[in-house]
Amino acid sequence: MSAADEHAWIAIGSSEALSEGGDGLRFELPMPGRGMMQAFCVRHEGVLRAYLNQCAHVPVELDWQPGRFFDTTGLYLICATHGAVYLPDNGLCVGGPCKGRSLVPVAIREEAGQLWARPLDRGSSA
Ligand code: FES
Repeated sequence: MSAADEHAWIAIGSSEALSEGGDGLRFELPMPGRGMMQAFCVRHEGVLRAYLNQCAHVPVELDWQPGRFFDTTGLYLICATHGAVYLPDNGLCVGGPCKGRSLVPVAIREEAGQLWARPLDRGSSA
């Protein structure tokens, strides 16, 4: 990773905040020209996944309670408003009013117990 890349990443919290299939971590992500955007990350099948906290149906936040992104099965991310369900590993909506559309992914990494996210660029389709 170059020095420039290193500065592009933002610390968003501790790795301990994310248990497998448990509550997600909400965080803010700067987006050039659009201010701060809400995002979240979860741990699913041992892998961190992060997306903008914005449903593909209507741009509202997904979680029905802060950090509650998984449905009762723990297999899908679910939107609290109309029940769209998304695959955690790629953000694709597989059921509900926005089936076939996707959440906007956010780059994330974990290093020495710390979680990092990278701001979206202007080309991101949020
Ligand atoms: S706003 Fe998410 S399913 Fe309608």
